[in-house]
Amino acid sequence: MRVAVFVSGRGSNLLRLIEAQRANELGAATIDLVVSNRPDAAALTIARAHGLAATCIPHREFTSRTLFENELLSALEPRRIEAIVLAGFMRVLSPHFLATFSGPIVNTHPSLLPAFPGAHAVRDALAYGVKVSGVTVHFVDESLDGGPIIAQACVDVAEHDTEESLAARILAAEHALLPQVVASLSRGDYLREGRRVVITEGKCATTI
Ligand code: GRF
Repeated sequence: MRVAVFVSGRGSNLLRLIEAQRANELGAATIDLVVSNRPDAAALTIARAHGLAATCIPHREFTSRTLFENELLSALEPRRIEAIVLAGFMRVLSPHFLATFSGPIVNTHPSLLPAFPGAHAVRDALAYGVKVSGVTVHFVDESLDGGPIIAQACVDVAEHDTEESLAARILAAEHALLPQVVASLSRGDYLREGRRVVITEGKCATTI
């Protein structure tokens, strides 16, 4: 399964995926392209340092989302990309993109969805006062962080937690979960029935 990883920032999930691939823990998945919408994304440096094909398509340079997304799609085609992993990619993909790209697209999100979608999930969860949060890896659909859930892992919220401390523990959980999900998808080890997704083999953690 030829995978493109879409990024916008730090790239720690990308790095975990690269490490998992090197350790033969990514099933039949290979990271064949990294795409950033931000030229200054550290993730681009990580990709290039590991010898991966990496390209920057800055959304600001396009006058419409369709033109931006057409450029994304053009980057995928020559590399015959079969699946996309959104790993900290801070743009919402439109119905046009989702209808055009036929393979699975998954996203990792730092909360237990459907609680706390959006860009400030950790801050929002802390402000709400939840005692448990976590990570969700889900298929991407037209909604914001609302696609069918593939796997989740719980992270306890401590009394003294700050946004930074909680985010760090959730990130560690993401680093464990995301490669497992990508490996399962690459082997076709899942069933999808409407919103319900069942991993049929492998060991996707439910609690960390
Ligand atoms: C992760 O917490 C992910 O859930 C969220 O953005 C963060 C990306 O981190 N969507 P990184 O760039 O992979 O380090």
